[in-house]
Amino acid sequence: MSIPVITADEAASYIKNGYSIGVSGFTAVGCPKAIGTAIAKKAEAEHAAGREFKINLFTGASTGESLDGVLSRADAINLRSPYQTNKDSRAAINEQRVRYCDYHLSQLSQDVRYGYFGKINVAVIEVCDYDEQGNLVLTTAVGNVPTYAQLADIIILEHNANRPKEMRGMHDIYIPLDPPYRKEIPLYKPSDRIGDPILKVDPKKIVGVIETFFDDEIKAFTELDETTTKIGENVANFLANEIKVGRIPKTFLPIQSGVGNIANAVLHGIGASEDIPAFEMYTEVIQDSVIDLVKDGNIKFASGSSLTCSKTAMDKVMNDLDFFHKHLVLRPQEISNHPEIVRRIGLIAINTAIECDIFGNMNSSHFYGTKMMNGIGGSGDFLRNAYLSICTTPSTAKGGMVSSIVPMVTHQDHSEHSLKVIVSEYGVADLRAKSPMDKAKEIIEKVAHPDYRELLWDYLKLSTKPSHTMQKLDKAFAMHLEFLNSGDMRNTKW
Ligand code: COA
Repeated sequence: MSIPVITADEAASYIKNGYSIGVSGFTAVGCPKAIGTAIAKKAEAEHAAGREFKINLFTGASTGESLDGVLSRADAINLRSPYQTNKDSRAAINEQRVRYCDYHLSQLSQDVRYGYFGKINVAVIEVCDYDEQGNLVLTTAVGNVPTYAQLADIIILEHNANRPKEMRGMHDIYIPLDPPYRKEIPLYKPSDRIGDPILKVDPKKIVGVIETFFDDEIKAFTELDETTTKIGENVANFLANEIKVGRIPKTFLPIQSGVGNIANAVLHGIGASEDIPAFEMYTEVIQDSVIDLVKDGNIKFASGSSLTCSKTAMDKVMNDLDFFHKHLVLRPQEISNHPEIVRRIGLIAINTAIECDIFGNMNSSHFYGTKMMNGIGGSGDFLRNAYLSICTTPSTAKGGMVSSIVPMVTHQDHSEHSLKVIVSEYGVADLRAKSPMDKAKEIIEKVAHPDYRELLWDYLKLSTKPSHTMQKLDKAFAMHLEFLNSGDMRNTKW
C-alpha cells in the first residue's frame, strides 16, 4: 500500500474543530510549512460561515510564520504549548485570543503521554525521506514529534525535498519509558547515541504526504554590537578564570547556550578565548555560531534538538553533511534538555534574562508581570540542574530607560536558588555562597548600569528594620510603574 500524495487542502480536511495537532520541529526549523496555511484558510471559511473552528497546537518550541503566524491571524488556535516567538502569536496570547500554556520544554512530551493535555488527534511531520513501512527521516529538528507520532490517531507527512535524504543518521530518537518502568537514560557524554536514527511510526496511521520544497523560516542573527560583544567576553573571561582556579576541570565541561542574539555573541566570545579549550555542547538549539565553531574545531561535538540556523549557516551544514554527521546529533527535546543528563554531565548553562532582581531571581518571559514575550523555553530545564548556571543580560533595555536589574522581578521563572552567576556588559556578579544581601551588593556593583546603582542602593535603605531579604513591598515595583508612567525608570523617586 503506497502512501498517497495529497495537497495541503486535502490534508487540512482531516483537521476538525477542537482537534489537538502535534507538529514536528523545534524553533522554526523542521516544522511543517504547508499545512498551516491550509488550516488557516479552512478556519477563515468556517468563521465566515458562522461556525467555530480552532485547534490546539502542540509544537517543539517556537514555529515560523507558516504555522504560528498564519494560524494566529486566522484566530485558529485555542490552546498553544510549549513556546512561541511569533509577533502575531504573541499579540493573540496577550489579548487572550489564544490560551497559552508556557511549559518547560523537556517536560511537555512526558506530560502529554501522561494524559495531562488530552488526546492528540493528528501528528504532522516534516521528513526528508520515508517509506511505506513507516520509517521516517526527520529534517532539521526533532522536538516532541516522537511522542506526538506515537499518540496521534493519524499522521500527515510533509516531504520537504529541499532537505537531502542524506540527513539520515543525524537524529537519535529515544523515548524513555514512563513511570513506574523508567530507567536511567543511558547517555553519559554529548556524543553518545542511545536511540534510532529513524523515527518509526505505525504506517497504517499515515493518511498522506504533501510534497514541499521550503527553506526553514529563521532570520539571520543581528551583527554583534559593543554590548553583546562585551557580554560574550565577560562570560569567556569568567569561565577561563574558573578553569584557572580549578573550579572547572582543565578539560572544560559541556556548554548549553540559550536562544537569541546574546547567546550567539556569548558563543563567539567563548570560541574566541585562547584560555578555553575546544569543548562540547549539550544544548537545545544549535545556532549559527556553533556551525562556524564546529567547522573551526573549537567545538568538538554539538548535541541539540534543532539546527536553528540562518539560511547561510544551514547551507554550510547541508553542503558538508559527511563532516557534520561526525560532529552533530539531533535528539528529542525530552532528551536534549533532560534534567537527569544536565546534572550528570556537569553542564555549564548560559541563558538570557529579560530582568533579574538584586537578590538573584530571574524573569525570562514577561514584561511588567503581565505581557508574555516568548516563554520559559528550556531555560529552567538547564538552569536548575546545571554545574554552573549563568544568566546574561544587557544592563538596560529601551535605550537605557529600563534597568534590567530591578528590586523585585515582576514574574519569576528562576529563583535565586538556581542562579549562580549574572553577566552584563559591565561585569560578572558571582552569587555563589552568598546571602541575599551579599548578592544584592554584588549585583548592583558589578552588573547594574551605573545610572541605576544609586537608585538600587537607595531602595535597600528604605527598610529600616533588618530582614533576611530587604524587600519593601509597597515600593518593590516602583521602577516598573515609573517606566509605565513616564517612560523612564531613572525618574523613580522612592
Ligand atoms: N523591559 C522591557 N523590555 C525589555 C526588557 C525589559 N527588562 N529586556 C528586554 N526587553 C526587550 C528588548 O528591548 C527587545 O525588544 P525590542 O526589540 O522591541 O526593543 C526584546 O525585549 C528582546 O530582544 P531580542 O533581540 O529578542 O533579545 P534576545 O534575542 O537576546 O532574547 C529573550 C532575549 C529573554 C527574549 C530570549 O532569550 C528568551 O525568550 N528567553 C527565554 C527562553 C530561553 O531562555 N530559552 C533558552 C533555553 S536554551
